[in-house]
Amino acid sequence: MSVRISPSLLAADFAHLDKEVQKIEQAGADAVHLDVMDGLFVPNITFGAPVIKCLRPLTKLTFDVHLMITHPLAYIEDFARAGADIISFHVESSDDPVQVIEKIREQGCTPFLALSPETPADAVLPFLDRICGLMVMTVHPGRGGQTLIPQTLDKVRLLRKKLDKDYPSLTLETDGGITLSNASEVIAAGSDMLVAGTAFFRADDPAEAVKRLRGEN
Ligand code: DX5
Ligand code: ZN
Repeated sequence: MSVRISPSLLAADFAHLDKEVQKIEQAGADAVHLDVMDGLFVPNITFGAPVIKCLRPLTKLTFDVHLMITHPLAYIEDFARAGADIISFHVESSDDPVQVIEKIREQGCTPFLALSPETPADAVLPFLDRICGLMVMTVHPGRGGQTLIPQTLDKVRLLRKKLDKDYPSLTLETDGGITLSNASEVIAAGSDMLVAGTAFFRADDPAEAVKRLRGEN
């Protein structure tokens, strides 16, 4: 299966989110990445479940919701009701990961576990039995348009080995600083789902960008 591309709305024009979601669909991407920030887990604030709910009728694409929030457990139901498909939350958040994973499953969504650049791969190993995917942050969470931190690809390689050996069905998503020039390196390191904010929304030809991110052109 080819690598999945999940453009992040963080780099979109917030005054025209409907058109921006359509742009993602028309470009042939696989998912819509929705970055939720609470001003606590990360300094910035973006949007929450009500905005996601309004966008839900616009597309059938997978809604890939990335929770950068301190207390994910309290909000899982809201995001599930709003139409989330994948829900990623951070292993560094304050809630018990097992409880959050169970809640996501109970709400009929797909649990992914995210880890920030400074968090070692070891931190997610105890949860691999319970989740459907990992999300390795390749920049510090909190804002778009940053440069990929090369050392994070070592973690991608390490986790890819582990998944290939013991959990081949898990997705390994990567998020942050992924560009048309470095996507092939990220894929070679073992990622099979790439988030791209700036690289997608600043591209002259978004469909071409999706193909190049996948390594098809
Ligand atoms: C960063 C977000 C990313 C970000 C990616 O905290 O989680 O999803 O929007 O944007 P780019 O691709 O511009 O780094
Ligand atoms: Zn994200």
